[in-house]
Amino acid sequence: MQAAVDKIVDEFAVSDEKLFELLDAFQKQATEGLQKSTERGMPMIPTYMTKVPKGTEKGTYLAADLGGTNFRVCSVTLDGNHGHNLVQEKWPVPHDLQVGSSKEFFKFLAKKVQDFLCKHHEEHMERSDSEFRMGFTFSFPVDQHSTNSGTLLRWTKGFDIKDAVGKDVTELFQQELDALDLKVHIAAIVNDTVGALMARSYHNDNPSQTIVGCIFGTGTNAAYFEKVKRIGKFKGKCDAKIMAVNTEWGSFDNDLTVLPNTRFDVALNKLTANRDFHMFEKRVSGMFLGELLRQVLLELNSSGLMFKGSESHILTEPWGTDTSVPSIMETDTSDDLTLVGEQLQQHFGLDSTLDERRATLAIAHAIGTRAAYIAATAVCGLLKLTEALDIFDSVDIGGDGSVFEFYPNFVQNIRKAMRVLIGDDEQRVTFGLAKDGSGVGAALCALEQE
Ligand code: BGC
Repeated sequence: MQAAVDKIVDEFAVSDEKLFELLDAFQKQATEGLQKSTERGMPMIPTYMTKVPKGTEKGTYLAADLGGTNFRVCSVTLDGNHGHNLVQEKWPVPHDLQVGSSKEFFKFLAKKVQDFLCKHHEEHMERSDSEFRMGFTFSFPVDQHSTNSGTLLRWTKGFDIKDAVGKDVTELFQQELDALDLKVHIAAIVNDTVGALMARSYHNDNPSQTIVGCIFGTGTNAAYFEKVKRIGKFKGKCDAKIMAVNTEWGSFDNDLTVLPNTRFDVALNKLTANRDFHMFEKRVSGMFLGELLRQVLLELNSSGLMFKGSESHILTEPWGTDTSVPSIMETDTSDDLTLVGEQLQQHFGLDSTLDERRATLAIAHAIGTRAAYIAATAVCGLLKLTEALDIFDSVDIGGDGSVFEFYPNFVQNIRKAMRVLIGDDEQRVTFGLAKDGSGVGAALCALEQE
């Protein structure tokens, strides 16, 4: 067993040479994406958001947030002094709606906005002349045509509402809001990374410059401020000098020219609805880290090397775990690895020996570390692309998502790989939580239109 486990751990290791190879490829593919859109390239979507928040913005706005399994509605009050207040409600999106028809799906969302308004904004429902401006945080790749319109390129993270692809999602949602006569106007469609970037800029009252907003959660992605003149494919009218670009870096290296590709990655990709797309995301984000672990344990079990004593396990069932499993395992410092044992039992029905728990932890660690190291190449890719470290003394990155916030040592491991890639300059980069990015960011984008 030990020899097999060591070999697998080795397969997940990322050498310094690989890091540099990934960094080069990222810069190249991102630069290409800014010049032209192709089906398999990095989308690098111009978002039409051109104002960097100052922290002095004011007002109350609605935000609707669809990022993964939950739908959230909030009203956000910006206080004009880097602060905000937020009232929110959230609901799980039933699985059948995630893979059903767009009509039923947007009807469900509109109904929840109605429930929210009835509960928290009775005054709005009673006055016929009032209209709420709403930012719609929709965390999927949308090719934007303006601040509040854009067509869905493809679904990710397990969603698969086929008839919505190629449609304007704002229009689909607005129709259902209007059908309920809610007097809500979708003033902006906002990717969660753009929300993170805006919210972090709004809250940031120190001199370091926020230039990237990134999400490491169920999925992964980043947005950053780019010079409009460098976005070669942008043909819209724009007087501003900079614009937020939604990279959709989940699609970095869809053709696998440089990304590591173990047999476990191959097997995982086959199980996904967006097969052969978002190949970077499938190695980095929360939806996939637990599944990669399952793939490895399944192989070791099938070849008779691990968990021989467990007969009625459920290792053969895909997607039985989320990131919380490797994440919890990695916090285990007990001598007999109690937490690792509990997770194996709870999620896979596995009884384990101490050696098996040690092996499992080593594998979880290898998968998590690879994710962070690969992530670092994309982060450094954006720093290089923007030349931010040549322009500013210190550069700030706003982040959010379960992996960013809770996966043990994820950010520290990103920094470790950054040190290899950019040396001491790594110390001039700060990472911080983009607080309430999807709500505050959406409000800031809805306001930008005024
Ligand atoms: C989506 C992005 C989103 C990211 C994080 C990805 O699957 O394509 O639009 O920003 O997940 O939520």
